[in-house]
This record gives sequence, structure tokens and C-alpha cells, in this order.
Amino acid sequence: MGIVVLWVIDLPNIIVVALPDSSGLGCRLLDGSIPAVLTQPGDFIIGGVFTIHTSPKTTEHTFMHAPEPLQCRGSGLDFRELRFARAMTFAIEEINNSTELLPGIRLGYQIHDSCASVSVATRATFQLINGLDPIFSLSASCSKSSTTLRPPSLVLGLSVSRSLISSSLPVLQVSHYATCACLSDKQQYPTFLRTIPSDKFQAAALVQLVKHFGWTWIGAVRSDSDYGNSGMAAFLAAANAEGICVEYSEAFYRTNPRSRVRRVAEVIRSATARVVVAFAAAGDMRVLFEELLELGFPPLQWVGSEAWVTDPLVTPFDMCLGAVGFGIRRAIIPGLRTFLMDLSLAQASASPILQEFWESAFRCRLASGPVGPGAQVCNGSESLQQLQNAYTDTSQLRITNMVYKAVYAVAHGLHSLVCAEQNGSTLHCDRGMKPNPLQVQHVLEHIRKVNFTLNGNRVSFDANGDPVATYELVNWHNTRKALSTDEYADMLHVCVCKSLQVPKSVCSESCPPGTRKAVQRGKPVCCYDCVPCWKPCYFCSADSLDCVRCPSDAWPNPQGDACIPKPIEFLSFSEYLGIILAASSVVGACLAIAIAAVFYLHKDTPIVRANNSELSFLLLFSLTLCFLCSLTFIGRPSQWSCMLRHTVFGVTFVLCISCVLGKTIVVLMAFRATLPGSNVMKWFGPPQQRLSVLAFTLIQVLICVLWLTLSPPFPNKNMKYYKDKVILECDVGSAVGFWAVLGYIGLLSLMCFVLAFLARKLPDNFNEAKFITFSMLIFCAVWITFIPAYVSSPGKFTVAVEIFAIISSSCGLVMCIFAPKCFIILFEPEKNTKNWKPGWQKSLRQLCICPESCGGQE
Ligand SMILES: *[C@@H]1O[C@H](CO)[C@@H](O)[C@H](O)[C@H]1NC(C)=O
Ligand SMILES: *[C@@H]1O[C@H](CO)[C@@H](O)[C@H](O)[C@H]1NC(C)=O
Ligand SMILES: *[C@@H]1O[C@H](CO)[C@@H](O)[C@H](O)[C@H]1NC(C)=O
Ligand SMILES: *[C@@H]1O[C@H](CO)[C@@H](O)[C@H](O)[C@H]1NC(C)=O
Ligand SMILES: *[C@@H]1O[C@H](CO)[C@@H](O)[C@H](O)[C@H]1NC(C)=O
Repeated sequence: MGIVVLWVIDLPNIIVVALPDSSGLGCRLLDGSIPAVLTQPGDFIIGGVFTIHTSPKTTEHTFMHAPEPLQCRGSGLDFRELRFARAMTFAIEEINNSTELLPGIRLGYQIHDSCASVSVATRATFQLINGLDPIFSLSASCSKSSTTLRPPSLVLGLSVSRSLISSSLPVLQVSHYATCACLSDKQQYPTFLRTIPSDKFQAAALVQLVKHFGWTWIGAVRSDSDYGNSGMAAFLAAANAEGICVEYSEAFYRTNPRSRVRRVAEVIRSATARVVVAFAAAGDMRVLFEELLELGFPPLQWVGSEAWVTDPLVTPFDMCLGAVGFGIRRAIIPGLRTFLMDLSLAQASASPILQEFWESAFRCRLASGPVGPGAQVCNGSESLQQLQNAYTDTSQLRITNMVYKAVYAVAHGLHSLVCAEQNGSTLHCDRGMKPNPLQVQHVLEHIRKVNFTLNGNRVSFDANGDPVATYELVNWHNTRKALSTDEYADMLHVCVCKSLQVPKSVCSESCPPGTRKAVQRGKPVCCYDCVPCWKPCYFCSADSLDCVRCPSDAWPNPQGDACIPKPIEFLSFSEYLGIILAASSVVGACLAIAIAAVFYLHKDTPIVRANNSELSFLLLFSLTLCFLCSLTFIGRPSQWSCMLRHTVFGVTFVLCISCVLGKTIVVLMAFRATLPGSNVMKWFGPPQQRLSVLAFTLIQVLICVLWLTLSPPFPNKNMKYYKDKVILECDVGSAVGFWAVLGYIGLLSLMCFVLAFLARKLPDNFNEAKFITFSMLIFCAVWITFIPAYVSSPGKFTVAVEIFAIISSSCGLVMCIFAPKCFIILFEPEKNTKNWKPGWQKSLRQLCICPESCGGQE
């Protein structure tokens, strides 16, 4: 953790806690001070705090005298953090060399080591704010110093901390490492900026990653710190929204008792989730991995936050299935490697921290220090070029680049504050400028508004002081089969999981199609049983919570995972029934035409003449149409065929019946005429016959026109009657219209029947009345039986029945009225004479239909 602080160098020191110095020369800081590890004087000084040592030196408190100040020296060095610190000095040197950025200004630095201790970091921060001298003098007495305090001087800070420090101080911090989303809250942290993206983005990105691979059952571990807790909270909230279930969520910290870390490791091992999301610092992950290594590394897929997923502390661990996560974008910083390598023994000897680094890296002792037994003396032949450690590894500059950017951001902010163009061209920087310490906000604004390009990357801050979030997807996959150390060999031994496939991590396997999920009681939504859908009217696609009903014209397929349209039923020309009916109707029409031809050829014979040939031909014509109109009932119902069906049927049948009616009336009138010779036929001669046929037909035409205009029939998909098929039928549109058409036909046929019945006994060889009676009987019988069939159930058979009724009633007419006559004409021509039977002449006279044949004949 750390703070980079910049302040104007000769501001008076600010005392936080001070006591009069025993020498009487001035005041002394109560607790002494910690020397900076790397310093350089300058006009403006940027401070930095890095965790160069991994932990503070533990001291035993005797409570007999004032405790020693915390010391960092003594624990292991984190070479990576040293690289960060050196990168900061590199950036400052670059800026110092630059002629464009802060020309003529010399930047200095004070870099402190916090050794992972919040208290050391806090002290370092105060020290940077206050000044450097442990003993200083004030005109007033030290006891009154608090009243003479000036507000903290202009401090530009860079908190590198994952846990927070000095957030409430008016310290301008530009963090390269603090990712907590909470720091974007400018109410609480008004002077905080950072170059590393907020965890808010990372948590969302991790959730997308987990979702992408279909891992709905995961474990979660986190550092028990601000970083881990807030990051994991953001992750869990987003994961919950995406339907990802968490089997366990464990927190630990590297300083926790070992038993606790072991418990976490055991939870991880015994859980069923194969994917573990870890929002943790690298140091914590290392502790956990060591524990897991001891217990046996389970075959897990790790999903890591940026803090550890690219950290060299954990990369040596074979993470079995590997680790994926988002790393900070890798960058190239030209000249940095040369700068880092350009460290001589002499330079190293000059700084305690570099000296320590040198000794630790080369495992030798510098001559200046006491030479321990066994350790060789460093003699200058050591070469950094041949050294391979986190300090020299510049292949993955991620956080280093954040440090670099932060220093440049501070420099650019300072530049806009102190440099101004004079006389329109020359740039002048005021090296002596002492910004008003009260104007922390003012300086902060200068830094927040920077917008510059650094090695091709744009650096800027949003209103919350956050940079534009960019990450790199990191996928660690162990390909090193032969690991050198025993540790790794052990690990390979316990871990047999070298699969290149994406691992699976689900609580319940996805449900097969045709089933639905039923969440198990008391378990997260990702744990469920698969319950079959009710068949046959429901289907369920895989992984849905509910079985879905197919639309009414569709039907689940045999697998039950999709709806397929139900078969559509209608009487078509391509099926046997349709073909037979169509053929019968054509045959019937041909028969009617053939009879017409026979009648025409024998139009002068008595039998034809006696039977009112004009009406007969009209009747045959209408019967032809009746046969043909049944064709409109076959085939896929369409708008037109539906409209044609019943109307053509109605009109042709009325034409037909009215012809028959005409014939019947003629017969009846001829015989009912009381006075022989009185010319009844004058009142019902051919013109009247034609007119009546026309009138009867027109009434039906009128009904049909009304029906078609008001509520015409239309094709309709009937799904009500059958579950497994759709009936494509013609909806009559208006039932009144339909029954009016049928009723009118019925009325006419009934009239016809009654009249024919009355006329049936009249004597005549050629009297048609009994044939008409008979045909009407057939006609009515057919249509009366048709009604229940029609009303009961729709479907193609109803249509077939209707066609059958049309054809059979037409046939009945043809057969009863024309067949006997044809038979006589063709096969018994001897009967087809005027003299065939005694008495027929009278009858013929009275039956006289053709006026020209009346009278004079006898
Ligand atoms: C700064 O300039 C000096 C000499 O002018 C050079 O030796 C040094 O390498 C430069 N530093 C950087 C970081 O560019
Ligand atoms: C950079 O700093 C060095 C001292 O470290 C100084 O000698 C040099 O002049 C500075 N360079 C520029 C360009 O200011
Ligand atoms: C320096 O010490 C190394 C061993 O640490 C030794 O191999 C090397 O020869 C020495 N070089 C000189 C010049 O003494
Ligand atoms: C700017 O111009 C004024 C007069 O126009 C001159 O006196 C002054 O020296 C100039 N300053 C610089 C920095 O060139
Ligand atoms: C920074 O400047 C670039 C162009 O110079 C602009 O596109 C970008 O929006 C600016 N960014 C911010 C945060 O102002």
C-alpha cells in the first residue's frame, strides 16, 4: 500500500503530535520518523508508498518504555513492488528530462515502504504531509502548536492501498492499485483519483465471463478486506441478477489462523461447484493455495480478480484446470527495462533498500555490511541481466503501467497549474509557485481534467475520478508438464485434470426437452429436478421453468421440445374421397348433358313435346350446374370458394326446383281445369313459366347477395373439435343467410312435393307427377338426413356428406324425371307414339302443353 504525495517544499511543517524536544531547540515529533526508502529533492515532490517489504518487523511490547517505531526491514522483499517504486522514479526522471512537460521544473520524490501495514502507511502519509524533519522549531510553544496549525499543505497522493488509508485527509491521492468501487463515491472520498479501473466494472465483467461459460453453480472466496468484501459483494449482486447460484462464499485473510484458512480450503474441496470465483489479494490466494496444495489440489477452474490473476505470487501454482480472469491491460513502457537493469553495485550500495534487494537477489553480502558466515561477498560481477525475478520481469507490465500513468497524471495536472504561455509563445513554468494549501480542490481539478496520451494510451478521469475501464482476459492454463521443483511434482501427483475442454459447473444438469425445471425446496434456483411436461398439449424447451402451451393450431412434437403445426384437414382433390366425389359430380353433369342431347335429338317425339321441352332443357341445364357446383366444395377453402360454395349451390338448386315446380304446376293446372277447352294454359303458358322460374330464382339470388354483402362466408381454422388436427372449413359467416338459402330451397321443394303429390294420381301416360313426387321425396329425405350430419361435427366428412347430398339429390331428380323417358325414347320407341294407349289422346289434350299441338288433333 502507499501514497504518493506532492507538496510544495518549503511550507512550514505541520504538527500532528509534537512534544518539546529535550534539547530545547524546538519540537520533536512524538514518534520520530520513518526514513523514506528512495528520495530525490526537487522543486515539487511526489510521494509514494509501496509495500516493498511483505510485513512489518514484529516487536514485542514490554510497556516499560515507549514502543519502538514500526520497522519494515527484516521481512522478505517484494521485488514486484520494488519494480513499481523504481518505475515511479523512472517516470519522474523522464518528466524531468522532458522539455515539454514541466520545462525547467525539477520533480523530486519521496518513496516510503509501508510493509503491508496500515499504521506504517498512515504514518508515512502524515510524514509526507508534515515534512521531513523529526525535530523542528516553532515560535510558539509546542503545546500550543495545535492552535497554530495550518491546514495540511497541498498534498497530491497516490494511494496504492487495497485497504483504505487517509481517505478523510485532504490528500490528493492518485491510486494505481485501489480498485474498491466504494472509492468512486465522491461524497466520501472527494480527493481520490485512480488510474486502475474500479471493481464495479470488473465484477460485472466477471459475471459475464462466468455466464458465458455456463457456470451457474459456483463457489466464492474473497479476501476479508475492503477489496475482497466490496468486490465480492458487487460480484454476487450481479451474479444473482444473472441467475448464477453460489454454493458457498468464504472470506479469509492471510494473517488469519491457519485453521481458518484450512476450513476454507476444506469447504472448497468438499463442495460440488467446479468453478471458484476468487476476489482476493495475491498474498491471500497464495496462503489458500498452499493450504490446498497440502490437502490435495481439487480439479477446479479458478476465476480470478485482477489482484491475483496476473500476480507472479500465484502463477507458479498449478491451478489444475487453470484460472481465468480479467487482468489490467498489459502495456509497454519504452526505456523502463533499460532503466531497471541499469543498476550498478555502487548505486545499489548507496540506498539501503537497493542494497537489501541486491543482497537478496544475488544471495551475497555487500562489503559494507557485516559479512555473515556462508554468504559470499558481492564483488561487482553480479549481473542483473542474468537475474530472473519479479523485478527484472518486464514482460507483463500491468500495475507498473498504472504507477507510470499516475505519475504522469500528477505531472500533467501540475503542469496546467504552474505553467502558462507568456507573450503568446514561450512556455513559462513558475518553479517557485506555492499553491494555496487551502485550494486542494483547485489542484485536484487540474489533475482530474488531464487528458493526454501516454505510449498510445489515453489517460483521463471521469467525474468520479475513475479511468476508462479496459481489461485483458487472462487464461492461465498449465502447459508445463515437467515442473522443476518438488512442490509442483507433488501437485501434479494429486491433480489429474488436464482437460482442454471448458469445465462444467452446474448444480443440476439442464433438463431434457419435454421437461420443466422444478426447483428443489430450500435450494438455490440452480438446483432443480426435471419434471415431464403434461402431454399432449404442452411442450417445454430445454431448461425452461414452465411448460409452455403450444398455440392452438400447433401441437408438440414427439420429443416435446417444439411445437409443430397440427395437420390441416379439408376435403382435397388429391384424396380418394375427393376424387370419387369430383368424378361422380362430373359423371352426373355428363349424364345430364347426355340426356339433354337425347331429348334434343328426339325433340319432336310426343314424349318430349308432352313434357314441356323448354322447362326440361332448363331443368337439365340447372341439374348440370348442380352436379358441377359440388366441385366448389372440394379443395382448400379460400375466400372465393367459400363464397361460391353455398351461393352457387343455393341458386342452382333453386333454379332446378323451380323448373320442377313449374312442371308440376303445369301438370296440375292442365288437369284441374274444370272446363274442357278452357285454356288454362293461357294463364300458365311458357312465358309465365319462364317468368316464375326467373322470379323464384331471383329471390334466391337476392338472398345470396344480401348474405354475401352483409356477412359473407369465410375460410376458418376450426380447432375446437379435434385436439390433434385443424379443420379448415368455410364458416358460413351469417347463419341466418345460410339457413335462409337452405330454407328457401326446402320451402320450394316442399311446395313442389305437395303439388306433385296432389297431381300424382292424374291419369296420363306421360304424367310426370308421380316421378316428381318420388324425386322430391328422395330430395327431401336426402336433405333432411343431411341436416343432423351437418350440425353435429365439422370436418371433411361433413363436406363429403354435403356433396353427397347434392349429387344424390341431383341424381334423384335426373333418375326419376328423365330416366324413364329416356328409356322409352331409346329402347321402347313404339310407346313413343300418339296412339300408344287408348285414352291417352284425351289425356294428351288435357295435358296439352304445347298450344300448337292442342285442338285439331282429335
Ligand atoms: C534523462 O537524461 C539523462 C541525460 O540527459 C539520461 O542519462 C537519462 O537516461 C534520462 N532519463 C530518462 C528516464 O530518460
Ligand atoms: C533532470 O534532473 C537532473 C538531476 O537529477 C538535472 O541535472 C537535469 O538538468 C534535469 N533535466 C532537465 C531536462 O531538467
Ligand atoms: C565474484 O564472486 C563470484 C561468486 O559470488 C565469483 O564467481 C566471481 O569469480 C567473483 N568475481 C571477482 C571479480 O572476484
Ligand atoms: C513579454 O513581453 C514584454 C513586452 O511586450 C517584455 O517586457 C517581457 O520581457 C516579455 N516576457 C518574456 C518572458 O519574454
Ligand atoms: C480526451 O481528449 C480526446 C481528444 O483529444 C477526446 O476524444 C476525449 O473525449 C477526451 N476525454 C475526456 C475524458 O475528456
